[in-house]
Amino acid sequence: MLSINQLLVSINGLVLGFLVLLLILLFFNRRRRKPGEPPLDNGLIPYVGWALQFGKDPLKFLKSQQKKHGDIFTSHIAGKYITFIMDPTQFQYVIKQAKHLDFREFANEMASRTFDYPRITEAKFPQLRDNMHRIYKIMQGTALDKLTDSMMGNLQHVFKWKFSQATDWKIEKMYQFCCGIIFEASFMTLYGKDPVADGHKLISEIRENFTKFDAKFPYLVINIPISLLGATRKVREELIHIFFPNKMAKRSEVSELIQTRKNLLDQYDVLQDHDRAAHHFAFLWASVGNTIPAAFWAMYYLVRHPEALAAVRDELDHLLQSTGQKRGPNYDLHITRVQLDSLVLLGSAINESLRLCSASMNIRVVQEDFVLELEGDQAYNLRKGDFVAIYPPTLHKDPEVYDDPEVFKYDRYVENEKEKTTFFKKGKKLKNYLMPFGSGVSICPGRFFAVNEIKQFLAVILLYMDMEMVENKIIGQDNSRTGLGILLPNSDIKFRYKPRKFDL
Ligand code: HEM
Repeated sequence: MLSINQLLVSINGLVLGFLVLLLILLFFNRRRRKPGEPPLDNGLIPYVGWALQFGKDPLKFLKSQQKKHGDIFTSHIAGKYITFIMDPTQFQYVIKQAKHLDFREFANEMASRTFDYPRITEAKFPQLRDNMHRIYKIMQGTALDKLTDSMMGNLQHVFKWKFSQATDWKIEKMYQFCCGIIFEASFMTLYGKDPVADGHKLISEIRENFTKFDAKFPYLVINIPISLLGATRKVREELIHIFFPNKMAKRSEVSELIQTRKNLLDQYDVLQDHDRAAHHFAFLWASVGNTIPAAFWAMYYLVRHPEALAAVRDELDHLLQSTGQKRGPNYDLHITRVQLDSLVLLGSAINESLRLCSASMNIRVVQEDFVLELEGDQAYNLRKGDFVAIYPPTLHKDPEVYDDPEVFKYDRYVENEKEKTTFFKKGKKLKNYLMPFGSGVSICPGRFFAVNEIKQFLAVILLYMDMEMVENKIIGQDNSRTGLGILLPNSDIKFRYKPRKFDL
């Protein structure tokens, strides 16, 4: 007879033996490269592949793969086969392949799970996706004028409320500072005001919940069950409830963009109130989730580089002079969308910080086996179900495209006092040289509004305040959002500010 201990040892041995056998089987059944396909790298560990190295430092990993295999290769990462395109002169050939390379299904599945609304299928919600995209035009061209004006008013409203009493230096944490101002001004611009409640208090409660949800966002995206993420489900429900019809109906001065989106969602009877509210919540995340860290980095780099700050402020002071405006205690400056476009130095400083902090992966799913044709008679067979990816930091940190790529040069995107748009790789002018907003069919529809918002935020703080760093530390980037958009700082940093003397 076996004792209990002997029995346990035998079971352990069996389990271990089975696992080893499984690993050997997986190892020998690994995918093999077929003729005409890009070089394939399975990594050593079955299923996991290169996931650990990729997760730790994607840029370093991709560069090492590039050294080994060249400018296009397929890496096995957490059960997925991802073909990376590393040569930016070839990006356009991938971006234009919207028929063979789809992003919608992938994004749709991820968004519906993360924000808790039903997947948008053509059968169940005919034309919904296309109609939503049509509405995004309200964030572009002259239609953007109204949103821009409203944002300028709201930013100054928040400033007046927060800072009009301040007379001497005040110390604050910079990320918290940016988050508070951008969230409140953007929220009011898009979703209007609650005429009854104390607006500042209400929005700051929403912001606190938003920050909690946002911290768990990367886990939701990689499909970690929400039940394992502490109070995230409750927080998400609270955020969704803000947009229930009875609450939305009370709000005044709701933007045309949100009102039109609401009218559209209301037309789909198959949607429940909860689903509609979840769509609004998803839009809220899209509208501030990246803008807040992007505004932070732009402010951080400017305050870190006083010469850059002085040059940008000079440009703003000139704009005020040329438009006959004076800074006064009413906080009522007016800068139009067209005037914002003319601020070349400010635009360049923002582009430069976006270059350094954006890390959104452009992912497409191969719809059918097909041949991807690239420039220079190159062609590669791709397999149905595989992913194709462009990771913009490989471009943004390429020393051949950008000299001293790690250095913040505020005027990098200025040439002859105009926006510089000519950047080269292998002697060829690049069509895509800055990609913080994605590309092709999945490019961010809010990109013009986002850049305007950041310009307005910086304009208001530079025009109304003097600022200095209090801490000397250099802060780094938190990689947990790699692939998802703008990286957050890995710590906050203290700075101090004091109101500038008014002109009036
Ligand atoms: C610096 C700020 C921003 C950055 C870096 C950014 C970046 C991006 C990126 C990379 C995507 C594409 C994701 C993909 O490929 O699947 C995207 C999508 C999107 N963005 Fe932005 N975004 C910003 C600000 C905004 C703002 C202010 C709005 C709206 C007010 C907005 C609305 C959206 C929407 C609605 C989508 C999804 C579009 C679709 O359904 O195809 N974004 N954004």
